Amino acid sequence: MNQAFIVTKEHRRFTEFANAVRKEKTIGICHGAAGVGKTNSARRYANWDALEPYINAWGPRGDHDAKHYALANRSRTVFYTPEVLCRPKDLMHDIDHWQIKVGICADEHLRSLMPDGEVVRQNDVTRLVELLIIDEAERLTPTALELLRDRHDRTHLAMILIGMPGVDERFRHYPQLYSRLGFSHHYRALGREELLFVLDRHWKRLGRTLDPDDFTDAQAIAAIERITRGNFRLLERLFPQINRVLKINQLDTITDDVIEAAASILVIGN
Ligand SMILES: Nc1ncnc2c1ncn2[C@@H]1O[C@H](COP(=O)(O)OP(=O)(O)OP(=O)(O)O)[C@@H](O)[C@H]1O
Ligand SMILES: [Mg+2]
Repeated sequence: MNQAFIVTKEHRRFTEFANAVRKEKTIGICHGAAGVGKTNSARRYANWDALEPYINAWGPRGDHDAKHYALANRSRTVFYTPEVLCRPKDLMHDIDHWQIKVGICADEHLRSLMPDGEVVRQNDVTRLVELLIIDEAERLTPTALELLRDRHDRTHLAMILIGMPGVDERFRHYPQLYSRLGFSHHYRALGREELLFVLDRHWKRLGRTLDPDDFTDAQAIAAIERITRGNFRLLERLFPQINRVLKINQLDTITDDVIEAAASILVIGN
């Protein structure tokens, strides 16, 4: 499942959006359909695939510390996914925890840059964290939203709330939060050119070469475009099935029929 991250146009747009929210010290909303890649982009922005396990382990210091300190200092971001029935108090407690840990790492990096003897400790390392990204934001209760708004007012911590389409509408019901929203960002599915790029990789992985000028390949591409509408998760789920259909039927070529057969096995109700 964990294939290499592809730096898509949408990811670059997300990065620009996150940088803007951070610079303006405001609150931003990122919304988009299920499976388009919101979580992946946000985790990538926060270097979270590296920092989360490192912070969770938090063991005796070792050789790889400096690398993680530098990562934390570069992203200065906490990525957080609330639990389904999260209690507001636990939410704030967890956020504090991550903010302190990322802050300590960034602080360590900054201190490593200082000449010896000039060690100045930050009195509040949490201040080094500039952005908080909350995924699955529809899980936040009104109280949690109120606590986050209060945190934002007091510390000017920039925040991004990620959710499904319509999450921005939900926040309209909270005028105090809504009036503080700086940016709203729509995370879209892959465009045609990028879809071709991703498909090319999938084709290669199946040991084949994709040629959009070839009639059969063009039809296959059209079928995939229609079925997945450029949705990353659907693409990811479709390809193992395509592989299966090819194997079971002892076929060599990925045709639109193969794709239709593969799609019929999946429940695609996006
Ligand atoms: N940039 C990318 N490069 C490679 N694979 C990606 C990329 N973005 C997403 N994916 C793949 O697509 C799948 C869905 O992505 P992700 O979980 O980020 O979607 P999402 O928008 O957060 O969906 P949901 O709204 O359901 O949480 C992931 O399993 C991931 O493997
Ligand atoms: Mg997600």
